[in-house]
Amino acid sequence: MNCWKIKKLQPQNFRNLGNQVFDFVPGINCIFGQNGNGKTNLLEAVYLLTNKKSFRKNTAFPQMINIEGGSPEIIIQSAFEDEDKKELLAYSLRLHDDYEERFLNNVPEKSKTPTSSVFINPFDSYSFHTSSTFRRHWMDSHLSLMDSDYRKTLGKFQKSMRFRNSVLGIGGKTASNQLKAIDEQVAEYSAIITDKRHQFIQGLNEQITSTFKAVFAEEHFLKLDLDSVFTHWDAKKIFDFYRHQESTDLKAHLTQVGVHRDDFIFSFDGLNAFEFCSLGQQKMAFLSLIFAYIELFRYKFTSYPIVLIDDVSGELDSQRWKNLISYLETKKFQVLITTANENFGKELERIPNSKKFLIAHGTLA
Ligand SMILES: Nc1ncnc2c1ncn2[C@@H]1O[C@H](COP(=O)(O)OP(=O)(O)OP(=O)(O)O)[C@@H](O)[C@H]1O
Ligand SMILES: [Mg+2]
Repeated sequence: MNCWKIKKLQPQNFRNLGNQVFDFVPGINCIFGQNGNGKTNLLEAVYLLTNKKSFRKNTAFPQMINIEGGSPEIIIQSAFEDEDKKELLAYSLRLHDDYEERFLNNVPEKSKTPTSSVFINPFDSYSFHTSSTFRRHWMDSHLSLMDSDYRKTLGKFQKSMRFRNSVLGIGGKTASNQLKAIDEQVAEYSAIITDKRHQFIQGLNEQITSTFKAVFAEEHFLKLDLDSVFTHWDAKKIFDFYRHQESTDLKAHLTQVGVHRDDFIFSFDGLNAFEFCSLGQQKMAFLSLIFAYIELFRYKFTSYPIVLIDDVSGELDSQRWKNLISYLETKKFQVLITTANENFGKELERIPNSKKFLIAHGTLA
């Protein structure tokens, strides 16, 4: 297994970024610049290249193509390097309104990317602690990145569930027969999804307390639990449940119970983190969760993802910044970290062997 790190990136017509080459180091890359100059756009370009979608919500080609460019396509060219094996590969993306092409060493490649990346942003901690929909989405997208079978099963489940809800919406005499057939599929997918979510949470739990200590030098016991009706149920039991639910769901015109309503509970020293933690503690817990995920990723793929950190300085005090930076320095993953905060910037400036970039109006200054 190769451990690819991004070495060069050349975006063209992507948001406000100029057509230039960014040369990254395999360790920590610090990206400075004032608000609205293109720091997050640079992280987005790397994410789009490696994860095949943006991390921004409701974002597609029309939002990403440079509004002033006049060109019909976005091109992102890149080079990745495996330092240990001394290997290089070229990877590029051409994005149009209605299709995209990707090339690995100039050969068309539809599915594989050289590596994946994980995006950490300041607002996610708040959303994570306040919204169960966000938590479920977080769980689904991060587990999908590690497990393509999960991603496929989830896609099939969502399709079946949409169909189920449309049948429930129409109702009528034939609904019952149709629902029986749909429920067999829904039950099969639900059993797989619940099982994989439990395994995922167990894997995160094995890492998260020690990760918190490694990052913030404090002892706290962190734990995730899956809040799901179908825990330890097999497909047959789930199918029977849905058969039993039929009349209630028909009345409501909606599937009221299922893995699409699952949540997870995050506890901090035995207390519900969503209710008891301060904003700073919530952020520390959330960051520890992501770094635990990154360790789990490495455990599975024997290589780290690229870690994209978008100005996380708010709410953390300076000691915690220092702890976080020391943690990043000890790790073997590649980091692209941005900030517009001058004080946090000064801490980043001190990191030995890191590379500094200053972005102004989408261009390297
Ligand atoms: N499609 C586009 N074409 C051209 N410019 C765009 C496009 N989409 C966004 N922008 C511009 O990119 C800039 C925002 O860039 P970005 O979000 O990377 O800023 P930032 O440096 O991360 O700022 P902050 O420190 O506030 O987070 C904005 O000025 C915005 O108008
Ligand atoms: Mg930004």
